[in-house]
Amino acid sequence: MVSDQLRYFRIQIRPSLASFDCAANESLMQGAARCGLYLFSNCQKGECGTCKVRIKKGQLKLAPFSLSALNMQEIDADYTLACRSYPLTDTVILAELVGRVEARHYSRLE
Ligand code: FES
Repeated sequence: MVSDQLRYFRIQIRPSLASFDCAANESLMQGAARCGLYLFSNCQKGECGTCKVRIKKGQLKLAPFSLSALNMQEIDADYTLACRSYPLTDTVILAELVGRVEARHYSRLE
């Protein structure tokens, strides 16, 4: 049996059509950066809201965060914080990426 730490999920980013592999034990922010993709961020602690993305499909586990960064109305509208979200399934998100990104799969599995 494969442990959760070794499971990877495919995260697709719209509208860029880039995707990356994210481990179950890393946030979307960490997984993207490991694969060379960069989501907008600031605090990386769930406090500023700069990394807010919208979930189009899939399930994520949300670690503790500040309600000033993400409020209940936003959660109800399927927004989450990339720095505090850990994948539970393959996922599709709406997000802006830093820089020009090719529409392809980015993978750096360990
Ligand atoms: S970078 Fe500040 S909440 Fe994610």
